[in-house]
Amino acid sequence: MADFTGQVVIVTGGAKGIGGGISRAFAGAGAQVAALDIDAEAGTALAEEEGQIRFFEADVASDEVCAQTVGQIIKDWGRVDVLCNNVGIQPVPSYKLAHELPVEMWDRIIDVNLKSFFLMARHCLPQMMEQGKGVIINTASVQGLQSASMVSAYAASKGGIISLTRQLALDYAKYGIRVLAVNPGGIQTPLVDEVIEAFGHEREQFFEDYAKLHPIGRYGQPEDIANAMLFLASDKASFMTGENVCVDGGLMAKGAWAEVEE
Ligand SMILES: NC(=O)c1ccc[n+]([C@@H]2O[C@H](COP(=O)([O-])OP(=O)(O)OC[C@H]3O[C@@H](n4cnc5c(N)ncnc54)[C@H](O)[C@@H]3O)[C@@H](O)[C@H]2O)c1
Repeated sequence: MADFTGQVVIVTGGAKGIGGGISRAFAGAGAQVAALDIDAEAGTALAEEEGQIRFFEADVASDEVCAQTVGQIIKDWGRVDVLCNNVGIQPVPSYKLAHELPVEMWDRIIDVNLKSFFLMARHCLPQMMEQGKGVIINTASVQGLQSASMVSAYAASKGGIISLTRQLALDYAKYGIRVLAVNPGGIQTPLVDEVIEAFGHEREQFFEDYAKLHPIGRYGQPEDIANAMLFLASDKASFMTGENVCVDGGLMAKGAWAEVEE
């Protein structure tokens, strides 16, 4: 496994779910990890549990907050090697047809899911350019590639991330900076718990049904995404940039007409 000793890794939405898994994985590989999140309770608990992780309470939809937090990390730790733009929201009340979606909700989803990726990149890139090296890994989604019902803002944000990834990869390759995206399939996190609760699904049945949708036959875990990110951030992936990689148990490999054998 790649060794990130001496490297500084920033993870947005880094306290819970996939972000919590990413923070833990990089810390386990020796990195100093800055986990940025609005959930102070979860972030503090994570930092107490894992000494290599420092929690920053930060709403990354704000340019001012991103500037201040990244500035603090560079002041204290002197560098930024890997930025994992992972934060994402899909609030249950936003499951609506586009003409019924309040504009404020569209704005908030785009601000958190897409604009924050630009803001965090904007503040980390000058440091990475000075270092002549850096990696940005963006958490997109299979929903940036194919459509689910009634999630227009979320889908648009994820498509935007894939496009932004290509753009940054193109513009910053000459500075030694690689930019990649990961598209998770169904991953068991608090975000999914919210959906299960809000729509009154029976928990075990939900995971059983969704496992069947994935050709590999199980629901994903945060570590599945974190493991892919460790590889993409390492020098073993030094010829990869601008690409989006599905970590989805085969979901996107399956045509809409495919029968999945049980
Ligand atoms: N879980 C899945 O099945 C799945 C599938 C595809 C893509 N994704 C993507 O993976 C990423 C992580 O999803 P998850 O399932 O772990 O979600 P989650 O809700 O479980 O965790 C998200 C974290 O982000 C934090 N957060 C929310 N708003 C924030 C803000 N403004 N600033 C800083 N932190 C904030 C939350 O407190 C939480 O800790 C998201 O981008 C999501 O769209 C998830």
